[in-house]
Amino acid sequence: MLRNDQLDQWDRENFFHPSTHLAQHARGESPNRVIKTASGVHIEDRDGTRLLDAFAGLYCVNVGYGRTEIADAIAVQARELAYYHSYAGHGTEASITLSRMILDRAPANMSKVYFGLGGSDANETNVKLVWYYNNVLQRPEKKKIISRWRGYHGSGLVTGSLTGLDLFHRKFGIPLANILHTEAPYYYRRKDLDQTEEQFVAHCVSALEAMIAKEGADTIAAFIAEPMLGTGGIVPPPVGYWPAIQAVLKKHDILLIADEVVTGFGRLGTMFGSDHYGLEADVITIAKGLTSAYAPLSGSIVSDKVWKVLEQGTDENGPIGHGWTYSAHPIGAAAGVANLKLIDELDLVANAGDVGAYLTRSMREAVGDHPNVGDVRGEGMLCAVEFVKNKADRVFFDATDKIGPEVSATLLAQDKVIARAMPQSDILGFAPPLCLTRENVDTVVAATARAVKTVFG
Ligand SMILES: Cc1ncc(COP(=O)(O)O)c(C=O)c1O
Repeated sequence: MLRNDQLDQWDRENFFHPSTHLAQHARGESPNRVIKTASGVHIEDRDGTRLLDAFAGLYCVNVGYGRTEIADAIAVQARELAYYHSYAGHGTEASITLSRMILDRAPANMSKVYFGLGGSDANETNVKLVWYYNNVLQRPEKKKIISRWRGYHGSGLVTGSLTGLDLFHRKFGIPLANILHTEAPYYYRRKDLDQTEEQFVAHCVSALEAMIAKEGADTIAAFIAEPMLGTGGIVPPPVGYWPAIQAVLKKHDILLIADEVVTGFGRLGTMFGSDHYGLEADVITIAKGLTSAYAPLSGSIVSDKVWKVLEQGTDENGPIGHGWTYSAHPIGAAAGVANLKLIDELDLVANAGDVGAYLTRSMREAVGDHPNVGDVRGEGMLCAVEFVKNKADRVFFDATDKIGPEVSATLLAQDKVIARAMPQSDILGFAPPLCLTRENVDTVVAATARAVKTVFG
């Protein structure tokens, strides 16, 4: 085994970490943590420190760590057939079975599943499919995509452009042209404090209508959105938002891509976020919870309406020119099959709804009245605490104060609980494994209350 100091040196000298302050890390100014093993809701580092992971990695280890059922399925698949491609009608028992299992769980209008590797590439696929769709329908001008400020859809060239967070655009020269961002459905951060929730929804709708009118509906292909904002702040939409937005999209023949990378497979207490909010999507993006991150796998679930046009396209133009070497990788597919079985067996969707509601309720009771806690919100197994400088007048901290990161670092240092300082604004995010227990919730909430007290007094 490598000595720890050598591993530390190699890490700083060789490893390009994503979403990391590269210079500070290379200079050894920021902590590194080498994770060694994990079980249930806990991870353990190389020094034997055990941490309660209340963010499930990157909201992805939904069934919890150390599930031998999935590990065994992966091992069996690797021995029997580690790889074969899925081009030109090839498949494996695992990939075919998994597509069937997904469609059994997906909204009724869904027809087929295309498999990728991660959420970013799945959204990249979705944008291409929507463009192809409109080209086949002889309307090549209908290509723009409307996303939302604070939406998160990945960090590729197109998907990083769809993402509506400053950090993901800065110095990369994106967003690309023809990707537009409209109002985030974030009631707590509304500009006009006198607005009711209903008035705020009307404001979001008229902002979208105005954008469509300005650009021309015949230039807009799709609207992409998470059913509930995730990385942008863990924000449930205001009541009435989705019916009103969907009516606008329908009126202008704009497709809806529901990005369910976080909400798919149970996180909101329903199998899909679309079920929770009554979304009638044309394409659904899945990743994370599809395999609980035991292997990389994503998917684009395509509706009947879109599928029919894709078929027409290949009749007219030949095989679809889209695919990755690793599309429907058998190991990912085997992990997906075992994972979805486990979600059913352990009744994790119901647990996410039940224990998740307890998490948000307990968090609100514990810290909601604190003068620096502006908002506590959540849905299913997603919860957020937003910090403010002045609660009565809703004055936010300056980003340079780094209050969110300070609270999450304190939580970790004091009580070994992992929550995520969300990348924009001072928001502490919780997205635990769906197998979290009420006892775990009590630990997380007590630790958060302590961290809030330490940081703010
Ligand atoms: C809603 C959503 N879409 C897409 C992605 C991108 O997924 P990946 O990081 O697997 O590329 C994420 C990642 O957090 C996400 O939250």
